Amino acid sequence: MINLFSPLIIYSERILRSPNQANTPKKMPPPNPEYLQQEESLTPESRELITTLPRQNGWFDSTHLYLYQGFWFQPDHLQAVISCQSHFQPLHSDVFLATYPKCGTTWLKAIIFTILNRKHFPPSSPNHPLLTANPHQLVLSLEIDLYAHNRLPTASTTSSPSRRFFSTHMPHASLPQPLSQRNKVVYACRSPKDTFVSLWHFMNKLRPQGAPERDMETAFRMFCDGAVGYGPFWDHVLGYWRRSLEEPERVLFVRYEDVKEEGAVQVRRMAEFLECGFSAEEEEEGVVDRILELSSFESMRGSEVNRVGRLGNGIENKHFFREGVVGDWKNCLSAQMAQELDGIVEEKFGGAGLVI
Ligand code: A3P
Repeated sequence: MINLFSPLIIYSERILRSPNQANTPKKMPPPNPEYLQQEESLTPESRELITTLPRQNGWFDSTHLYLYQGFWFQPDHLQAVISCQSHFQPLHSDVFLATYPKCGTTWLKAIIFTILNRKHFPPSSPNHPLLTANPHQLVLSLEIDLYAHNRLPTASTTSSPSRRFFSTHMPHASLPQPLSQRNKVVYACRSPKDTFVSLWHFMNKLRPQGAPERDMETAFRMFCDGAVGYGPFWDHVLGYWRRSLEEPERVLFVRYEDVKEEGAVQVRRMAEFLECGFSAEEEEEGVVDRILELSSFESMRGSEVNRVGRLGNGIENKHFFREGVVGDWKNCLSAQMAQELDGIVEEKFGGAGLVI
């Protein structure tokens, strides 16, 4: 087997020692943001591997995607996924949030972090970490924050004191085996039309300085063809959907639209799934509503850290909060595009009994 990281650096510090440390907004943009450096830190083994894989143009002109286990990855994420598959040993109590990008990762991180840690950080506390840290600082991505940087999570690599809590965009088929066999995963999905529109806006904000916007038609074609990071979208969703039907105690399938529509029901559903349902006393105190307020779009978008802060990889926190509504695709997609996407959805999801 190819060992892409030899030797692995054991990252033993807490990534965030205290909520306050996470709060310091990084105001100056890095000259060459890390998220655009997709090939620089590849090991010789990874460089060799990618020459053997099918390749497509990436979203930005200078970038590429590689097909691995049926999905398209940018090279640094691919290297991280393979390393994670080889080395990650989850604890039994670890919790994971899996998403396709732009399906509500930031929001669900906030909600689940608050559910899990409500004894340590009461949601009504004026010092709650979410008031001063972006959810991506509190809940690290296995591949983007850890394995892409040769960091192995240790027992203390988390800001979540009750149970370790990580996120991933990995498709189900690419999850490290012990994780997919043992751990609980909440999978959040969203309507493909809103997901695509959100992705288009987000990627255009992240484009290199001076680069033109990716036009919507070309981006739409890439999305429909599945040739976007972690795509095809449909296969990503179906992998987790099927597993949620086969093993409902391991994978909980959550729709962004349902959390919008009936937040309290979904928060209770997630807490039950994670075996930390709300007590009668908590219900009486309105803890569920407080969790929803704390993680609401308005609350998170308005906080200073999300207005002016920046993640370690250079992405500005504000880019994770755009409209936060259901159905914004109507303002962006042509009728023809919407029809085409609906057709693909019907073809891909119809037989699986999945409606999103
Ligand atoms: P829009 O671009 O449609 O507004 P991700 O976190 O996976 O990157 O997804 C980002 C999408 O979730 C964006 O959608 C963003 O506005 C929305 N979002 C972020 N925080 C939210 C919240 N608290 N409530 C609802 N939507 C939220």
